Amino acid sequence: MTDDTLTAYAQGKIEQLAAASLLRTLQPTRRMDGVFVERGGRRLVSFSCNDYLGLSHHPEVKAAAAAAIETYGAGSGASRLVTGDHPLFAELEARLAALKGTEAACIFGSGYLANAGIIPTFVGADDLVLVDELAHACIWSGATLSGARTVAFRHNDVADLAGKLGALRATAGKALIATDGVFSMDGDVAPLDAISRLARAHDAWLLVDDAHGLGVVGDGSGTAKLFPDARVDLQMGTLSKAVGGYGAYVCATRPVIDFLKTRARTVVYSTGLPPANAAAALAALDVIAREPARVAAPIARARRLTTALNLPAAESAVVPIVLGEAETALAAARDLEAKGLLAVAIRPPTVPAGTARLRLAFSSEHTEDQVDQLIEAVRPWLPR
Ligand SMILES: Cc1ncc(COP(=O)(O)O)c(C=O)c1O
Repeated sequence: MTDDTLTAYAQGKIEQLAAASLLRTLQPTRRMDGVFVERGGRRLVSFSCNDYLGLSHHPEVKAAAAAAIETYGAGSGASRLVTGDHPLFAELEARLAALKGTEAACIFGSGYLANAGIIPTFVGADDLVLVDELAHACIWSGATLSGARTVAFRHNDVADLAGKLGALRATAGKALIATDGVFSMDGDVAPLDAISRLARAHDAWLLVDDAHGLGVVGDGSGTAKLFPDARVDLQMGTLSKAVGGYGAYVCATRPVIDFLKTRARTVVYSTGLPPANAAAALAALDVIAREPARVAAPIARARRLTTALNLPAAESAVVPIVLGEAETALAAARDLEAKGLLAVAIRPPTVPAGTARLRLAFSSEHTEDQVDQLIEAVRPWLPR
C-alpha cells in the first residue's frame, strides 16, 4: 500500500479512462510537409492536421521564421508591457486589423490564452456569458475564469439563444455572447447575422472565435465576411491553423484593444510571442492574400468527400464522421491507419458523449487521389 496518494489518484483515474476507451496518450508524430506524417515508423497521409493551407512548411514562411530567429533570437525575453513588445508585433496587428476591417488588433501567445484573457477582461461576477454548447474549450475556460454567470445555448439555435437572453439579460450587468465561427469538431458555421441581431437587440457583446475560418472560409478573411450585416465586437482567431504557425489575435475597436493590452491577464502576465512566430505569420498572410486558389482548395477537397458520401455539403475544411461510441471511432481510425491514412479518433470530453468521431481536416495540399482513397476508406464506416 503506497502512501503516495497523488500517484494512486492518477493511477486510478488512468485505469478508469482506459476501461472506458477514453485514455488518450501522446503519439510522437513527425510532420514531413503539409500532408505526410511519420508515426510509429510509418508514413501516413494525414487528415488530422489543421494546417489547412500547408503554410507550416511553405518555403517563404519557413525562411521568414528562420531569418527572424537569426536576427532577433529565439524568444521575446519578457512580457510585452516590459520589454517583450517586438516591432514585428505592431506590423502583424496592423495586418490582422486590416484583414478583419477593424481599427486595431492584439496578438496573444495562443488561441487558448486569447480566450482565457479576453473574456475576463470584459465581464465579471455580475455579468452573463451565453456560449454555444459546442464552442471550443478555451471559450468555456475564459467564461469560467471571468466569474460571470455562464449559460450554454443549444448549438446554432437562435431561438434558444433568444429565449435565454430574454429570460436572463435583465438581471445581468453586462452580457457577452460567445461562439465559434467555424465549429472545430463539426465544421459547420454559426449564423452570425441572426446572433448579431440578437446581441444588438439585447445590448450584448459578441465574441466570435474564428480559429478555423481564417484562410479557409469565404475570401480567406474568415467567417464574419460571410455575414456582411453582422457586427462582431471581438473577432478572435489563431495563427496556428491555416496560418501554419503559432499565436493568436483579437481584432476590435482601438479602445477595446488598448484596454486588453493593459488589462488582459494573459497579455500582461505572459511572455510575448517569439518574434519568429510573428514573422512567419506575416509571410503566411502574404501567401493567403495573393493565392485565392490555395484558399479555395480545402473546402473543395472537403466537398469532394461530402458529395461522394452523400453527407451535408462541407462548409469549411472540417468534416465530422460521427460514429457514436469511443471504441467504434478508435476501430475506424485503426482501420484507416492500416490503409495509410491518419484520421485521429476524437472522443469525449472533446466531443459530447455518444458522438465520438473521425474529424477529417482537408488541406490545399491533399491531392484528389488522396481524397478519393479517404472516401473509399471511410465509406464502410458510415452509419447506415
Ligand atoms: C475554435 C478554437 N479556438 C481556439 C483554439 C485554441 O487555439 P490554439 O491552438 O492557438 O491555442 C482552437 C484549437 O486549438 C480551436 O479549435
